[in-house]
Amino acid sequence: MRLKKLGRTGVLVSELGLGTMTFGWKATEAESHALLDRFVASGGNLVDTADVYSEGRSEEILGGWLAGRDREEIVLATKARFRTGEGANRVGLSRKHLVSAVRQSLHRLRTDYIDLFQVHTWDPLTPLEETFGTLNTLVESGSIRYVGISNFRGWQLEKALQLCRARGWSEPVSLQPQYNLHARATEFELLPLCAAEGLAVLPWSPLGGGFLTGKYRDWVRHAPAGTRIGDAKDPEMYVSRFDNDRARRIVEAVVHVSRSTRKTPAQVALNWVLANPAVTSPILGVRNGEQLVENLGATGWSLTGTQRAELDAASDLEITYPYDRRAEQQQRDGRDPP
Ligand SMILES: NC(=O)c1ccc[n+]([C@@H]2O[C@H](COP(=O)([O-])OP(=O)(O)OC[C@H]3O[C@@H](n4cnc5c(N)ncnc54)[C@H](OP(=O)(O)O)[C@@H]3O)[C@@H](O)[C@H]2O)c1
Repeated sequence: MRLKKLGRTGVLVSELGLGTMTFGWKATEAESHALLDRFVASGGNLVDTADVYSEGRSEEILGGWLAGRDREEIVLATKARFRTGEGANRVGLSRKHLVSAVRQSLHRLRTDYIDLFQVHTWDPLTPLEETFGTLNTLVESGSIRYVGISNFRGWQLEKALQLCRARGWSEPVSLQPQYNLHARATEFELLPLCAAEGLAVLPWSPLGGGFLTGKYRDWVRHAPAGTRIGDAKDPEMYVSRFDNDRARRIVEAVVHVSRSTRKTPAQVALNWVLANPAVTSPILGVRNGEQLVENLGATGWSLTGTQRAELDAASDLEITYPYDRRAEQQQRDGRDPP
């Protein structure tokens, strides 16, 4: 696997990250450790978790594995913001919750520092100064090395960046957004913003939770048990997202392109995400070794322009003001760089 710069930092991360949301949920501890071993043996070093995955069990399983490793070889990313227990304050981006969240993650991960500590999503209740001032203190104390963001909107991310710059605080270095062939609205505002500001982009759900592997062709309403969608607590969420003509068109195109590449649909869908120059490292989600090996095969080759164009056309979203071509032309009119 190639290594890439984590945004403007001097840290190098593998071009695919390993997500651990399945640890303690779809994969046992032993299976999870085997996935980590295989990922690292293939040149991977970026591992992503969160305090809420399997109610902390994902971090514990990862911590058990890290304990027997050279910690310096791993770029360890985790997150906090979502509810971790009963009560008014075990949630959010307050100083109270963030400092506790970092302490608890360090304990579960059996390490004394987190490389990338990500704000899991926006918190409308906490002033931005409180959140980013706290994160800056955590960087200065050495508990976390870098600050990352997940699931912010464009204006929220830019506001956080400007605040940190004005105060001389440690700036966010990465964004973890949902991005895949189905979820392309990320291209409107977030990807250009990250490119302009030099932020790393670590897309989550690069396979749309497995939908883009093409395995649900007999459709999401009849998803087999044992799969993410078949076992979903809220299957209607997936039905409303994927039971429509655009989603069907996308999967047809992925399967069609896969036939001409001799790559699997999953590899094609992942390669499409990897090919976007704004993307640093998509975060893989897998529940077993076969899926991991298959998905690692998304690197080391490229879709042709024609194949990418077919996927782009099938997954095209209606672009409206202020992102449409007319608005873009007006903004550029006569002002293109020489
Ligand atoms: N920041 C956030 O808000 C956020 C949100 C979600 C995820 N994440 C991060 O992103 C990571 C990846 O997200 P994700 O799990 O949703 O990714 P994904 O790649 O879109 O979906 C992964 C799921 O697809 C299925 N799958 C994967 N490879 C397959 C293959 N080759 N063939 C058939 N099925 C395959 C598996 O589910 P089944 O086999 O069970 O069907 C697997 O668990 C997570 O682990 C987490 O670290 C972050």
